Amino acid sequence: MSLKERLSRQWDDDNASAGETPAASNGAPLGSAASGFRRRLLEEIDTAELVKLGPSQRRARLETVVAELLSREGPVLTSVERNRLIRQIVDESLGLGVLEPLLADESITEIMVNGPHEVWVERQGRIQRVDASFAGETELMQTIDRIVSTVNRRVDESSPMVDARLPSGERVNVIVPPLSLVGPTLTIRRFPRAFTFDELVALDTVDRATADLLRSMVRARMSIVISGGTGSGKTTLLNAMSSFIPPEERIVTIEDSAELQLQQPHVVALESRPANVEGKGQVTIRDLVRNSLRMRPDRIVVGEVRGPETLDMLQAMNTGHDGSLTTVHANSGYDAMSRLETLASMSDVSVPFQSLRDQINSAVDAIVQLERSADGHRRLREVSVVASRRREDFDLRRVMTFEHEPVGPDRVVHGHYRHLPLPDDVARRLMLAAQPVPTSYAAATEAGRHESVRQA
Ligand SMILES: Nc1ncnc2c1ncn2[C@@H]1O[C@H](COP(=O)(O)OP(=O)(O)OP(=O)(O)O)[C@@H](O)[C@H]1O
Ligand SMILES: [Mg+2]
Repeated sequence: MSLKERLSRQWDDDNASAGETPAASNGAPLGSAASGFRRRLLEEIDTAELVKLGPSQRRARLETVVAELLSREGPVLTSVERNRLIRQIVDESLGLGVLEPLLADESITEIMVNGPHEVWVERQGRIQRVDASFAGETELMQTIDRIVSTVNRRVDESSPMVDARLPSGERVNVIVPPLSLVGPTLTIRRFPRAFTFDELVALDTVDRATADLLRSMVRARMSIVISGGTGSGKTTLLNAMSSFIPPEERIVTIEDSAELQLQQPHVVALESRPANVEGKGQVTIRDLVRNSLRMRPDRIVVGEVRGPETLDMLQAMNTGHDGSLTTVHANSGYDAMSRLETLASMSDVSVPFQSLRDQINSAVDAIVQLERSADGHRRLREVSVVASRRREDFDLRRVMTFEHEPVGPDRVVHGHYRHLPLPDDVARRLMLAAQPVPTSYAAATEAGRHESVRQA
């Protein structure tokens, strides 16, 4: 919805709720004054000019106009009240009410609204309650309506769960009563900012040698699965790892909601689509994976496998699209392997259990396990390579583990990254692709042996 539509809709809403006066000079509460001034604001501003401005300039412009209006027509207020009123009017005009200042706060990565009077945010991996509240359920539902109408959906008892996104890219999930017992519930995930590997090293998400190892693995076309819990940083790491793909390759990315921001010159980004209100037009991740095979990709990057597309992804990895990358929700490397097995068996093509194992063993070369620790820190917990072949039981060789130290009074997780020598076949694979093996991943004796192989 355009800003103008939003504002005029707000105006209609306000007109519908009769009895609100444009100014608070008669002693009406500030809330009703706000709605009157919102209406006046619409008359005063040039929305055509406004839409050309960036978010912060837009806000600044609106604030100036409201301040002028208040000086001309408003009640006598203390400067604190006045500032609060200006902010409230502008926030509500921009559409998301009390959520606007939270969205403007860069340090917040997630906003969780559990009913009108409970708002939680996540900062630096920690969840905390904030002092923000909607006037009531009606106001919260209005905000929700504004959000979901941008994706042509509606939320009500008959369709109580909706995924949407804000114009700025934030992913939003809405679930309302009767499914939610605490009132309308809104979860907003900030559009993940792209981290470079250097930044991830600086943040101590990964150590330098392991970052170098991952670079060599991606360049040597090893297929890698990133595994971790919700919000552990899988998409962020996938994005950073994709940056290692050489620029001359053709990459197809497939996601439920586009979050990856690849920098290579030759990328085709595909996004799945939910069914519309009539239940038609759905395009699944699986449809896109299958379609991508006819697009001559060198690599396929799938944002997350969580259903039957897993089988298609494994088949793609086994049929010339090695070096593909994806993420899966699991708590350890082994878990990730068996999760892939379960997900792949959800496909309508029934593949015997044994041959699924075969497919997974030959498709996946390495698993990178992420964790979000109690102190909110996201880091690589484990890197393992797949050693099992054919129909054997899954066998992973750990090459990196993060060794935790006991947590001290500061409750900050400390530890160190332990590196183990790469299995021979992996070291050889990197070497054949002319990719360096970081020293700490090559056992001293092994290094000598690799040297002689290279000379031969
Ligand atoms: N290494 C990191 N250091 C600090 N913040 C990070 C790191 N990785 C991710 N984040 C932040 O954590 C949030 C979640 O990250 P991300 O979306 O990558 O996680 P995810 O595991 O893909 O989540 P989901 O399970 O919802 O798909 C984002 O706000 C992101 O910017
Ligand atoms: Mg993700």
